[in-house]
Amino acid sequence: MKAITYSSYGPPDVLVLSDVDAPTPAADEVLIRVHAAEATKADCEMRSFHFSVKWFWLPLRLVMGVRRPRRQILGGYFCGEVVEVGHSVDQLAVGDLVYGSSQLQLGAYGEYLALPANYTLTPKPTNMSPTEAAAVPLGGLNALHFMRRANIRPGETMLINGAGGSIGLHAVQIAKSMGARVTAVDSAVKRDFVLGMGADRFIDYRTRDFTQEGKTYDIIFDMVPSSSYRACMRCLNQGGRYLAGNPRLSVMLRCLVTNWLGNKMATFAFAKETMEELQTLTTMIEAGKIKPIVDKVFPMAEATKAHRRVETEQRIGAVVLAIREQPPTLCLAKVSSTNR
Ligand SMILES: NC(=O)c1ccc[n+]([C@@H]2O[C@H](COP(=O)([O-])OP(=O)(O)OC[C@H]3O[C@@H](n4cnc5c(N)ncnc54)[C@H](OP(=O)(O)O)[C@@H]3O)[C@@H](O)[C@H]2O)c1
Repeated sequence: MKAITYSSYGPPDVLVLSDVDAPTPAADEVLIRVHAAEATKADCEMRSFHFSVKWFWLPLRLVMGVRRPRRQILGGYFCGEVVEVGHSVDQLAVGDLVYGSSQLQLGAYGEYLALPANYTLTPKPTNMSPTEAAAVPLGGLNALHFMRRANIRPGETMLINGAGGSIGLHAVQIAKSMGARVTAVDSAVKRDFVLGMGADRFIDYRTRDFTQEGKTYDIIFDMVPSSSYRACMRCLNQGGRYLAGNPRLSVMLRCLVTNWLGNKMATFAFAKETMEELQTLTTMIEAGKIKPIVDKVFPMAEATKAHRRVETEQRIGAVVLAIREQPPTLCLAKVSSTNR
């Protein structure tokens, strides 16, 4: 099969279109023909091994491969069609169009992906195309996780810092559906799109610092690792909640101290990306509470361009790779697949 592979960490040019062995599903797995995969900020970070949050580096390097990537096919979030099921799988059937997360197995930048049927995998929303659905799981699962932890009460005020990214755009929509009044912070180019997703107010972080405005909020959801923790806490009302979506080690420690000492709550827990959360997202999408956030779709062969677009931050929404447009080519073996 065709896959976008990389055999060394580096710039977008390390991504190449290769022929690799197609995976064979085990008894508890399904084989998915991938239609589309989101090219995420996290994919770019794993490819380059540059993380804005530095403490990630060592544990992730040990997991991902010290000298070169162990799993050479990136892509954690996708939509595709089930084309084969293992004999002990009964919850999915051949022909089902599913979307979800391949978790640390990655592999969605390839034409075929074998995953345990009990992974975060469920039929895609009926009112989204495969391309649109592929752009949901990363942002949607992470945003839903944090919005639930925020314990939003209708009418509460919430500031989302980094609201124009994949996670932020879903957070804006989910927070609005839970009744929050949302102030979105991101760069000016994303203003109209973010307001179109339901945000009540927009701040361009390049020209204004929300922590210097004298306004306070019930909840702050912060996806920006360079934020000042102290300044954010000053912008929280009594009883307010601070959700650190991309925390530095020092912020994680300070969250613990805040919870212990003060009357504000701070949390940094990572999303578990559960099946229940994905099914909830499906219901919200089908009810019209979450809209598609696709910026641009690139053919699989242009993965390098897709990563550049994610990294140069010119995008307004999610960048998606169209995998299905390639003619299917099962069982070509030049590079052996290293994602199993
Ligand atoms: N906590 C978790 O469980 C979890 C899970 C997945 C991913 N992550 C991490 O979370 C990060 C964000 O994910 P994502 O996919 O949403 O990334 P993304 O799509 O790149 O979104 C980040 C957004 O923040 C904006 N931004 C940058 N600096 C800012 C600032 N100083 N103030 C306000 N906004 C700013 C960016 O805009 P510009 O155009 O100006 O750069 C961009 O729109 C990634 O680093 C990812 O690895 C965390």
